[in-house]
Amino acid sequence: MKSPHPTVGEAAAAISHRHDRLLERVRALSGALLGAVESGDTVTAHDEKGNLVSWCEDELIPHLVAEEGPLYGGAHATAEGGLLVEGLLQDHQALVGLVDELRRADGGVRAAALALVIARVLAMHTGKEERLLLPFIAASPGLSLAEAVGTLEDVAEG
Ligand SMILES: [Fe+2]
Ligand SMILES: [Fe+2]
Repeated sequence: MKSPHPTVGEAAAAISHRHDRLLERVRALSGALLGAVESGDTVTAHDEKGNLVSWCEDELIPHLVAEEGPLYGGAHATAEGGLLVEGLLQDHQALVGLVDELRRADGGVRAAALALVIARVLAMHTGKEERLLLPFIAASPGLSLAEAVGTLEDVAEG
């Protein structure tokens, strides 16, 4: 089967594009929640918290789960990349834990604070993937970035 991302550059660009879209969305949603909390609009804050939780469940967590297959798997099994992937998996667990906390929070200050933390942690995490993991996979003779990304439906869907 032909990969939809045949070159390393295109594969890296596809992941980076997907990350940019996720970051754009999490910043917009967390900003809307913070704005509602700051202005004391409890009804809107409650709705915005619900919007952010839904987005995390429908977009963010599926992205994390998808990466733990083909993208992380090859590097995880190597001596040089194993610890890096362990660290990235811990980031994923932290994000899932923060989404759980957000789900249980009311729509007030605590929810807004959690939303900002989720946005910051995701930005830090995607930066590590783009600056550490992708170059590592691209430089490892036994691994194929184009293949790993080509099987990532989450990224292929953009
Ligand atoms: Fe990730
Ligand atoms: Fe990612």
